[in-house]
Parts: sequence; structure tokens; C-alpha cells
Amino acid sequence: MAKTKTPPKPEVAQLTFRGQTIDLPVIIGTENEIAFNISNLRKQTGGVTLDYGYLNTGSCESSITYLDGEKGVLRYRGYPVEELAAKSRFTEVAYLLINGRMPDTKERAGWSALLNQHSMIHEDMSYFFRQFPEHAHPMAVLSAMVVSLSTFYPELSQHRPNEPEEAINFAATRLMSKLRTIAAFSYKKSIGEPFVYPRHDLKYCANFLNMMFGSPVCPYEIHPEVVKALEVLLILHADHEQNCSTSAVRLVGSARVNLYASISAGICALWGPLHGGANQMVIEMLEDIISSGKSVKEYVEDVKCSRGKTLLYGFGHRVYKTYDPRAKIIKKTCDRVLKTLKVNDRMLDVALELEALAMQDEYFTSRNLYPNVDFYSGIIYRAIGIPKEMFTVMFALGRLPGWIAQWKEAREDPRFKLQRPRQIYTGPTKRHLLPEEVSTGLVKAPRVRRQPTIQPIGPSNS
Ligand code: ACO
Repeated sequence: MAKTKTPPKPEVAQLTFRGQTIDLPVIIGTENEIAFNISNLRKQTGGVTLDYGYLNTGSCESSITYLDGEKGVLRYRGYPVEELAAKSRFTEVAYLLINGRMPDTKERAGWSALLNQHSMIHEDMSYFFRQFPEHAHPMAVLSAMVVSLSTFYPELSQHRPNEPEEAINFAATRLMSKLRTIAAFSYKKSIGEPFVYPRHDLKYCANFLNMMFGSPVCPYEIHPEVVKALEVLLILHADHEQNCSTSAVRLVGSARVNLYASISAGICALWGPLHGGANQMVIEMLEDIISSGKSVKEYVEDVKCSRGKTLLYGFGHRVYKTYDPRAKIIKKTCDRVLKTLKVNDRMLDVALELEALAMQDEYFTSRNLYPNVDFYSGIIYRAIGIPKEMFTVMFALGRLPGWIAQWKEAREDPRFKLQRPRQIYTGPTKRHLLPEEVSTGLVKAPRVRRQPTIQPIGPSNS
């Protein structure tokens, strides 16, 4: 008789609490990442997990981006980001993230044509731009304009569980194309210049540069090195698994709100100085160092003494405990752009000095604080002519395909539930209002039952 092989027992972790032991299924990813599935924890033990900042919490299984913070590895759909930055265009990488594979020649041409076709925004939207105050931050404008797309294109505004795939793809393409136009218009608005409309003969990045720096009477002279640098920057920002803004997109999307509203929420999260807003903060920090006349060494000492109140912006990362692989590429690109454009920026010297000092300082090395994606990107943007208020808008432009891919992936996952964390309540236990805590007039006076008046028996007066 042939021996039957018993399948290996699925691996479990065990948790013992108050004398009871429960099994937690182990989930192993394709890169051998390990997770303990605690989906039934509360049912089985009555307890929940507590994890400030979600340092140990996985919120989903995802096949989009792999990142190893200890080794400095970043891959989109399996492709190393270094390879994509060297050999691909941003729109191809966007296609890869959203569709899961690189486009073939026909798909590339089709995708490019679609992006061109949807690049105009409704003319009425241009009136919105005019109503924002003169110094409105472009990130606020961007977020507002993106959510307002759902008023112009309301097809996806109502959640329909069986929304056809084409409708979602259509909305995603429309957003990819229009965000570029909205970003450029928000810059034009901020400097009071007339809008420059998208052109069909230009590719995505060149088109954006023309809308930013061209004028209706004078087209912008597009430098191939600048286009290449922009392609690289957008590719490097295109996705970064479950970071703060992407988690915001997924969380807001979990209420089944439409794509535009979810992405608008992501844009707001990205704006924060601890996240995408750090690129603007880096340049402001470098400006402060230069204008204050402080030496770089003095600034580094200030950071160290401040106990976390003054930060070295563009340094440190929640996941990377080594040099951010994106920062390596950006640093090289920065060198190349500045040389080609013959820009001599004092800020680059200060940034290089800061990095060199921090890399030898025990405070930074013991905490694994290395330059992140935001440390050198602003210096490239400055060289291209993009003002610092627009840096995070550039980040959003790059991150958009990642947000779309993550929103779509979540939506297609049958396990995608309304995201609603638990808490551990630490407030007072049950108590009651004291008389002096009750506003007069809010409590009705107790009803006094009137004694029925007894009519004397006898002839009535009437
Ligand atoms: N400068 C000085 N000290 C820092 C920095 C920094 N940039 N980053 C972290 N530290 C210190 C903290 O004060 C803390 O010190 P302690 O142990 O003495 O208390 C220690 O390093 C650990 O830092 P945490 O804040 O606990 O680390 P966390 O993972 O929560 O923070 C973060 C990551 C928010 C990115 C942080 O490094 C930071 O604020 N960096 C500056 C802002 C920035 O560049 N953000 C962009 C990140 S990339 C992106 O989101 C696109």
C-alpha cells in the first residue's frame, strides 16, 4: 500500500493569557516576512493589541511594493526601484503599479493617449482657482481641487459594490492626468500668471514642465536633463507601501468613499512635516542655517540638545534603519542636474556638510538616522525652478499611482473591512453630574401634582 504523505501542519504562534493558550496562525509573505494573525484575538481572549504609531502592526496583505528597511531594499511589483529609475518612464511605472505588470508597446501607446485625452480640467474648475486667497498653500488647493473632481465627475460618488472595472480604471486615468494639470495651475495661480493648457504633443513630464514654466505667448524650452530628473524623482516617490498618506487613503476608502475623496485625504496626510512636507522643511532648515550665520556643527548640536524638539529634517525614517535607497539615487541625480544646469547652490554644500557630520555623530548613528527621500530632492527642485511651497505637490504627483494602486487593491480584497481600530479607555469610570455642574434652566423643575380642588356641594354661583 502506497504511503500517504500528511501535509505539514500550518505554523502557529501561541499566546498564553490567564491560564488559557490560544493559537495565532502565522502568515509568511513571499519575501519571508512574518505576521501573526490576531483577527480572532478579542473573541478568544477579550483583549485587543495596543501599538502606538503601528510600529508592529500590519494592516493588510499587499502585492504592490516590497521594502526592507534593514537592507535598504525597495521594489515595485518585484522590480528594484534602481532599475526602474534608470530604465523607465514615470507613466510606465504608474501603469506597472496600477495594473501589476509593465505595459507592452501597444498598451504603452494606449495609456499615453488616454493620459493626453483626459489632461484638460473642466473650465468651471479654473474659477475655483481664482477664488483661493493669494497665499493659499498649494497643498490645500490640490486637496480641495481633487475632492471637487467628484462634483464634476459624479459617476463614482455613490458606492456601488459591483462597479465595473472599466469605470474605476477610467476614474484612475482621469485623476492621473488631471492631477498634473491641477498641480501646474495651482503654481500659476500662486504667482498670478495665466494658466498654460496641456499639450498633446508632449510626454507627461515635459508637458508638466511646460504648464509650469511656459506662458501662452512663449513655450518653455524643455531641457532633456531636467525631464530625466523629474522622471526619476516621480518614479522614486511612486509608492512606499503602508506609509501615513497611503494608510489614510486606505482608511478613508474603507468607508467606501469615492477615489477622489480618498486621494484628497492622502494629499492632506502627505502635507505634514513629518511625512511628505519634510522636503519643504529641509530647504527652510538650510535657509535658517545660512541666514542665522550658525555653523553646521552648531546646528547639529542644537538638534541633539533639543530632545526631539528641533529635528534634522530629511533624516530618519520609520522603516529604513539604513540609507534610504531613494536618497542615494536622488543625491546622484542632484549632482548631475546642478552640473548640467551650471547651478552653484550654497544649499547643496550645507546639506553635504550636514550629512557628513551627522554620519559621524553618535547621536545619529546610534538611532540609525540616515538621509531620507526628502533630504536632497528640494535642491533639485530649486535648480529646476520649482519653489519650495510646491515641493510636496511634486511628491503628491509622484505618489498618486501608488495611492490609486493601493486603493484599488483594497477595494478588490474580499476581506477589506471598514477600518475601525479599538482603544483602551483611560478616562473616569461612571459618575454623575453634581448640582453645581448643571446649567440652570436645562433641567425641568419637578412636576408638582395639583390637588384636585373639591367643589363644595351646593348651589352654584353662576
Ligand atoms: N532629527 C533628530 N532626531 C531625530 C530625527 C531627526 N530627523 N528623527 C528621529 N530622531 C530621534 C528622535 O528624537 C528619537 O530620539 P530619542 O530616542 O532620544 O527619543 C529617535 O530618533 C527615534 O525617533 P522616533 O521619532 O521615535 O522615530 P519614528 O520612527 O517615530 O520617526 C520620522 C520617523 C517621523 C520620519 C522621524 O525620523 C522624523 O521626524 N524625521 C524628520 C522628518 C522627516 O524627514 N520626515 C520624512 C520622512 S520620509 C517620508 O515620510 C516621505
